[in-house]
Amino acid sequence: MQSGVLVANSPTLFDRLGAQKPDALLQLIALCNADPRPDKIDVGVGVYKDSAGNTPILRAVKKAEAILLETQETKSYLGSQGDARFVELIKPIAFGEGASGDDRIVGVQTPGGCGALRLGAELIVAADPDARIFVGQPTWPNHGPLIECAGVRMVNHPYYDNQSHAILFDEMMSALGEGRPGDLVLVHGCCHNPTGADLSLDQWRALADIVSRRGLIPFVDLAYQGLGHGLEADAEGTRLVVEAADQALVAHSNDKNFGIYRERTGSLFIKASSKAAAGTVMSNLLGLARTMWSMPPDHGAAVVRIVLDDADLRADWRSELDEMCARIRSLRARLAAYDERLAYIGDQNGMFSMLPLSPEQVLAVREKDGIYMAGSGRFNVVGLSDDNVDRFAAAVVREMDG
Ligand SMILES: Cc1ncc(COP(=O)(O)O)c(C=O)c1O
Repeated sequence: MQSGVLVANSPTLFDRLGAQKPDALLQLIALCNADPRPDKIDVGVGVYKDSAGNTPILRAVKKAEAILLETQETKSYLGSQGDARFVELIKPIAFGEGASGDDRIVGVQTPGGCGALRLGAELIVAADPDARIFVGQPTWPNHGPLIECAGVRMVNHPYYDNQSHAILFDEMMSALGEGRPGDLVLVHGCCHNPTGADLSLDQWRALADIVSRRGLIPFVDLAYQGLGHGLEADAEGTRLVVEAADQALVAHSNDKNFGIYRERTGSLFIKASSKAAAGTVMSNLLGLARTMWSMPPDHGAAVVRIVLDDADLRADWRSELDEMCARIRSLRARLAAYDERLAYIGDQNGMFSMLPLSPEQVLAVREKDGIYMAGSGRFNVVGLSDDNVDRFAAAVVREMDG
């Protein structure tokens, strides 16, 4: 009787939940799938596509998977660090060959770049519950939830103007000029998502300078290394700021540059102020990882390790990665050449750029032309093919003309 009264008056556990908004991009995918028009264009979903519109499994990945199937002897636990050899192989890719022996930089394998960002945010809060992080807007929509969920306070500042296509560097620098020692700065290492607008090397140098002068701590999200201008070029900015900073975090993903999105393969690296501090950081990373996913999934990292440890497979991966990069650049060049108002797209990098379209115009190209892009005007350049790039550009320019 007593408990009956309680049940009637207070909703029990799950009845207290409010419904969450569905993910806008996932909704867009569903809408696109349901569109019967054979010539529809999906530039919403954020994966690489080849000229046939497929997201292929790379040759080197297929071969490494066959090797893994043949040679793997156990599926026993690996531990919270994940695949240590994988981490060791990624370190010079992100930080340069000279970093291999740098014992101030430690890393762990994570479930994708998302896991790395979340683990980094947890580490920050464990070190300082009042920590705050400067974040340029717009940014990848999942940055906010991943970082704030852990309890790091975000301080937003302008980064990009979608009408003039300019990086608002002065605004960014003046925001960082207010930074206090120990404040964090989130930066996209390359292929900025959603804008495609990356800092120039001179701007990276200026950023490195303010980081070092004000004692700021860069948190670099390096999710698309190799898809902008190539593997080495895409890490130059990251290396400049990490070098300049006393402490830094780098969230790295292999999901895009190996095309293994669903395998959730990434890593988080921390540069600490000394070798001893790096050891303490490592123990914290392991403890935090244990409370979130205990251990990262093995398969993707094992595949990447096999590819990187084998000279032929590594060379083949590099050439396929370069092909992906070249395809993105050639589609960008096609759009840029179509109309001078799209010229800026040729100078931007990676899979994404933004169009200065209103939500109504985005809807108009969806209804009239079967073009599916995010409401913000972000589109995936490589969702286009040689056959439909002009039709896409024509529809966009028609809307711009009003
Ligand atoms: C900017 C950025 N960072 C991180 C990620 C996360 O990558 P992953 O799929 O490896 O978790 C993404 C994925 O879209 C991204 O766009």
